Amino acid sequence: MYLDKDICKEGNPVLREKCVPVNLPLNNSDLECLKQLYQYVIISEIDDLVKQYNIRPGVGIAAPQVGINKRMFAMNCTDFLDEKQTKYTYAVINPKITSVSQEMVYLPGGEGCLSVTRDTKNLVTPRHYAIIFKAYVYDFTTEKVKFITKKLEGYPAIVFQHEYDHLDGIMFVDKLFDEKDIDALPLFTTEEQ
Ligand code: NI
Repeated sequence: MYLDKDICKEGNPVLREKCVPVNLPLNNSDLECLKQLYQYVIISEIDDLVKQYNIRPGVGIAAPQVGINKRMFAMNCTDFLDEKQTKYTYAVINPKITSVSQEMVYLPGGEGCLSVTRDTKNLVTPRHYAIIFKAYVYDFTTEKVKFITKKLEGYPAIVFQHEYDHLDGIMFVDKLFDEKDIDALPLFTTEEQ
């Protein structure tokens, strides 16, 4: 599994490359990478394992963050604003965002990234409130790849956009703004954070 030492940090040129599409069917090394990215975001939710492996928990991790220049990422987050607390857990291959809402939002506390260790407190990243994406996703239960089209809104849409940017060599630190300088709404109220 990937440990903190395996994660490329800001300044590493691999984080700035445009990643190449993944060939399907997946070859063994791409599948192994995707499995480990997925494992990372699953383990991130389990406090005992986070401590045991001494990893920084994350809701998303993209292949370039472990030095692999391919269009793949894993995400695992809960939509806090949804009363059902729906989980969005995907191992994503060759995604395309096909449409975006005009409405922009941001996480009031700002975003974080496994590849960024400096403090970016009080600076936020505007994102589209809603997106529609098309992607191949790997299902670890059936061990099959399927093609999906899905709409995401709010927090899971933010996570998806953050990871998607990594595939084009873009990082959230490239899009830092003071809240008062942007035309976007905070996603959570203070109480909900
Ligand atoms: Ni990141």
